[in-house]
Amino acid sequence: MERTQYKQEINITEALMTRINELISHYPADKSKSALLPILHEVQDAHNDWLSFELQDKVAEILNLKPIEVYEVVSFYTMYNQRPIGKYMFEFCQTGPCCLNGVENLMDYTCNKLGVKVGEPTPDGLFEVRGVECLGACGYAPMMQLGDFYQEHLNEEKIDQLIADCRDDKINLLEK
Ligand code: FES
Repeated sequence: MERTQYKQEINITEALMTRINELISHYPADKSKSALLPILHEVQDAHNDWLSFELQDKVAEILNLKPIEVYEVVSFYTMYNQRPIGKYMFEFCQTGPCCLNGVENLMDYTCNKLGVKVGEPTPDGLFEVRGVECLGACGYAPMMQLGDFYQEHLNEEKIDQLIADCRDDKINLLEK
């Protein structure tokens, strides 16, 4: 990913900084790096669900880390986004039990319905489809994550309904 490819306005508000300091306080003073993952979640939630290099640099500065220490975490976990993503990110689990229960056909179905490929937002920025590793809900396969919530025992009818509900602004993405 090019460093200058996408621009993002950085806004570490007082409320966000208070939350960051609260998370840091959960760990010993010389182990503040341990707060990196939850802090990245908070910062990402406050910045339209993605983390530019500049924003990652800011997190590194706050935690007194080298920028590379933040980059390697952000690029490792699929829950952190390095570019603007579709508002409704359909994250299908692509591990064994979900595959055995037809998740790949459902991903194809969803992509065809939305007119996109995996990893490509729709032109209106509303939807995106992504494949992720096991989400720990194998007994409910095939499943996906949408925002903070799991959508389970999926089939084409449920996908149709979810897309319609997203378009009608009926889907709540955040638990808090
Ligand atoms: S294999 Fe899909 S949730 Fe575990």
